[in-house]
Amino acid sequence: MKKVSKICCIGAGYVGGPTMSVIANQCPEIQVTVVDINQERIDRWNDEDLDKLPIYEPGLKEIVGANRGKNLFFSTEVDKAIDEAEIIFISVNTPTKTYGKGKGQAADLKFVELCARNIAKVATTDKIVVEKSTLPVRTASAIKSILENTGNQVNFEILSNPEFLAEGTAVDDLLNADRVLIGGDDTPSGKAAKDTLSSIYAHWLPKERILQTNVWSSELSKLVANAFLAQRVSSINAISALCERTDANIAEVSRAIGTDSRIGSKFLNASVGFGGSCFQKDILNLVYIARSFGLPEVADYWEQVIIMNDYQKKRFADHIISTLYNTVSGKKIAFYGWAFKKDTNDTRESAAIYVADALLEERAEITVYDPKVSEERIYADLDYLETRSPEENRRLLKVVKEPMQAAEEAHAIALLTEWDEFKTYNWDTVYEKMLKPAFLFDGRRMLSKEAMEKKGFQYYKIGQS
Ligand code: NAD
Ligand code: UDX
Repeated sequence: MKKVSKICCIGAGYVGGPTMSVIANQCPEIQVTVVDINQERIDRWNDEDLDKLPIYEPGLKEIVGANRGKNLFFSTEVDKAIDEAEIIFISVNTPTKTYGKGKGQAADLKFVELCARNIAKVATTDKIVVEKSTLPVRTASAIKSILENTGNQVNFEILSNPEFLAEGTAVDDLLNADRVLIGGDDTPSGKAAKDTLSSIYAHWLPKERILQTNVWSSELSKLVANAFLAQRVSSINAISALCERTDANIAEVSRAIGTDSRIGSKFLNASVGFGGSCFQKDILNLVYIARSFGLPEVADYWEQVIIMNDYQKKRFADHIISTLYNTVSGKKIAFYGWAFKKDTNDTRESAAIYVADALLEERAEITVYDPKVSEERIYADLDYLETRSPEENRRLLKVVKEPMQAAEEAHAIALLTEWDEFKTYNWDTVYEKMLKPAFLFDGRRMLSKEAMEKKGFQYYKIGQS
């Protein structure tokens, strides 16, 4: 089997950055170069101050600090890195299309195609090209066609190696992956390429966790894994609405069903709705694919997971409005948390964005505190919706760096992200600072209803009457 000495990854984002840092850490003999066209992002990956890395993940700065400059490099010299590498990972963004055919559902593959064309143009030696980005089924054949028809007569082997890390636990997920999936052709050269890539992961993962499949199974499995996980969240959220109308308690229902080993206990936490860059995008993509293959029932089935998620976010915002005597106009509502989950600075598709948008439409005045998300990011998220002007967003919503400042004279607090620090606050002090009656809407089921009511709060917890 070919021994690998140089690899490169195109795309220094939430997947490319952590994945390549871990590979460099586990494979000291391999030189790993992560390239991106975004100069600012690369500068931040190279910043001497490790607290300025563009991505916050527990354990990441330690790994980057230990390997950067040795066998881990971040650069904007895309062509050089492509030419030198034996394996090229494509880890660029694949957002939902915002134009043309498939608008609002299909994955936009323009960044992936640009990478393929660039590899074809630059490569002078044989390469293994690895799809790390999440891609629709049959994308590998499109990449192959571009590489074979545009290239310099070098041989390309295309593999699908989707990433299953979750943000907030990326380093741990990479080091202790349940499985790594490697899809490729069953030809002798395809098998050899799969073995070469497997040998990288075998530095730290047992062989039985490295699964080899055909390329289409690998591409489809990634979309399906995300659809199944999101479906569990939407299923439990649907039941949370029913619990609120009855005396059932969603925590008790989750535990009762999760202890059935056929169901399992994970991903049964009711919440204000799932967010993140993957779930919605990947399900919409699955829906689009099913519909384009003439399977409307399959498409409708999975689309319902998204419909339920939108309902949960709207339901939370509506509950705040109706509880505050049917008007939030001019009322100060503090948001604790903006990220889509704890331990990440990522806000893509965060439920907080949509809850804020619904409340701002009712002229609420929102003050946001999040331990890791920047003010610029929060305003960019709201401006992107184009519901109101950027000036109005800045007039109605303020961002603060202190949680107690957010609570000052607030009519209500909404917990939108499950940051651990929220559990440690002195909630008596928070209560004192707020206007009375002091309302607390817990979208993450973090606090005890009994304890909060004892302090004087009017407390609402998703899934509990
Ligand atoms: P991201 O937006 O954080 O990073 C993508 C990077 O690619 C950006 O920095 C962008 O500048 C760069 N890029 C785009 N086109 C380029 C080009 N032609 N040349 C060089 N750089 C280019 O995205 P991400 O969250 O890292 O996701 C990447 C892929 O991985 C997506 O397909 C996503 O679905 C998938 N994925 C993401 C996660 C996650 O948790 N974020 C998990 C599993 C899979
Ligand atoms: C997900 C997949 O888990 C990961 O395997 C894939 O590679 C990328 O997409 P991520 O979106 O980073 O990862 O985080 P995840 O932990 O899956 O959470 C997604 C959303 O669901 C978050 O908003 C989270 O708060 C929410 N969630 C999760 C719940 O509301 N309840 C749960 O029980 C679990």
